[in-house]
Amino acid sequence: MCGIVGYIGYRSAIDVLLNGLTKLEYRGYDSSGIALHNGKHIDTYKAVGKLSNLKDIINPIKSELDKSTVGIGHIRWATHGAPTTINAHPHTCNCGKLVLVHNGIIENYQELKEKLEKEGCVFKSQTDTETVAHLIAKEYGKLHNLTEAVRVATEKIEGAYALCVMHQDEPDTIVATKRNAPLVVGIGENEFVVASDVPAIIDYTNKAMYLEDNQIVTLTKNSMKLIDKDNHELKGKIEVLPWEPVALSKMGYKHFMMKEIHEQPSIIRNLLSGKITGLNEPLNLSEVKLDKDAVKDLNRIQIVACGTSLHAAMVAKYIIEDFCNIAVDVEPSSEYIYRKTVTDKNTLVIGVSQSGETADTITAVRQSKEKGSHILIITNRPDSTMARYADSLISVCAGIEVSVAATKSYMAQLVAFYLLAIYIAEIKNSADKELLKRLKKELIVLPEKAEEILSQETPIKKIAHKYANSKNFIYIARGINFPTALEGALKLKEISYINATGYTAGELKHGPIAMLDETLPVLSIMMKGKVYDKILSNSEEAKARNAKMIALTNVTDDNLKDLFDDIITIPETDEYLSPILAIIPLQLIAYYIAEFLGKDVDQPRNLAKSVTVE
Ligand code: AGP
Repeated sequence: MCGIVGYIGYRSAIDVLLNGLTKLEYRGYDSSGIALHNGKHIDTYKAVGKLSNLKDIINPIKSELDKSTVGIGHIRWATHGAPTTINAHPHTCNCGKLVLVHNGIIENYQELKEKLEKEGCVFKSQTDTETVAHLIAKEYGKLHNLTEAVRVATEKIEGAYALCVMHQDEPDTIVATKRNAPLVVGIGENEFVVASDVPAIIDYTNKAMYLEDNQIVTLTKNSMKLIDKDNHELKGKIEVLPWEPVALSKMGYKHFMMKEIHEQPSIIRNLLSGKITGLNEPLNLSEVKLDKDAVKDLNRIQIVACGTSLHAAMVAKYIIEDFCNIAVDVEPSSEYIYRKTVTDKNTLVIGVSQSGETADTITAVRQSKEKGSHILIITNRPDSTMARYADSLISVCAGIEVSVAATKSYMAQLVAFYLLAIYIAEIKNSADKELLKRLKKELIVLPEKAEEILSQETPIKKIAHKYANSKNFIYIARGINFPTALEGALKLKEISYINATGYTAGELKHGPIAMLDETLPVLSIMMKGKVYDKILSNSEEAKARNAKMIALTNVTDDNLKDLFDDIITIPETDEYLSPILAIIPLQLIAYYIAEFLGKDVDQPRNLAKSVTVE
């Protein structure tokens, strides 16, 4: 987590840094800070909470700061030390001459800190980062060269970092380096912007160089020098980014989350375009680089992901096993990386991630790659760290997702998985041809059905408001919509802070049913298909314990009115495809409850969009 940005050039650094931090705010918003070199000394400004708090401090004095053309900035998601002003970056050494910003975690910071304290360093913060400031300053005292000091000091560090460093005595220099955390240098005419992610640089240049681990770049206004950890000069790979400056607009919606929910129909359309060319034509998924024989030989698929992406992967398990007859394991990346996993040359490992920067999933993918598995990455960020490990890459092209609560990226991941499952099934000839034809036909009309749901929000909003003050919520489903229940509950938890849990409906009676009473809403996801009647019975069991019952269904049945207090009806579709439509009302319920409760919908407390620490 955390975002860092540095600027050196001819513009007012404060403008570039604040703009950059605005674009990086998805990486954390516990506190923020900026350091500016004014040619003589370095001034730092910090604020706890959202970036707007830092802007409030800076705006009244901005005209005085505008002349600085060198600076670094940071947006924080707290790991070590509470979100306080003292713990906010930039951090400095004891003499205050060296300042730095950091994204990542220094794993051996305790050991380094003890040593530095013995040598006389006085620590002001509780962060791991401050250790690095003291460490580099110590080396600078001996070497009097910032690049060298950074190079020698970082050899002593264990863990993950992206760093931007300035020193008072080198007013025309920013040194940046990274290990296991992203960092990209934007290269302009007589200016450089270095940042954790492209949106912070793209307003100034589309020429960029991604730093590799342990590389160190030294930037002045008109030069860039790249070295490796052994001080060998390198020629960096400069790329032209396929990006346009991104205007992060809500397009008239109150929140980005609502805008993103409404983008879903067109995202489905875009993803299908060029893939399904005819019902009798094989699905085209040229992104998969396994040859047909290798696809036929697949004996196992392991999918690693976190959070919402994990829920998309869980849906994938149902369809891939059913259509392709291949065993699929789905596992949270954070668990996968700490145990022995059994793979062989016929195992396909799929990493799923909106951001492509989730540390746990990157580690899982890296481990699998080292073991020789073919790596397929499904991501919304084809330029991400994770994408660089891909043998096959499916870019879901959902556009920048600003809201911390993922919605449209989930939809895009689901669609990508349906395409993949059908693609493999066709090559393996492992599914009923009529079924695959039917699914392709139905996929094409799903965007319209999604639009229909979104055009009938009012009853969903009413239901959301009715239950907004509930302290707990239960979502139940069976089969392929069990992940829908988990995802609906996650959405509610993360933006409204209501304790919501998803259960397989059959498990309710094995424990959770004890919680039910007249204060607890139970939302049953009941799509037409083989488990419909089963969920109906499970819902009866919940009703008998006086729970408040809400149905989300695509079946029109007057009898449901006796069982359910409220009913949300969505268009009918094939049971296999029903997760695509069923999630939309659940996203809306979460949104309307959070909005009703006055929560910060787009930036919920304690969260960050990209979880770049393990
Ligand atoms: C989703 O609403 C969450 N904010 C979170 O669970 C997220 O899905 C998870 O951190 C994984 O992120 P990724 O898809 O970028 O890897």
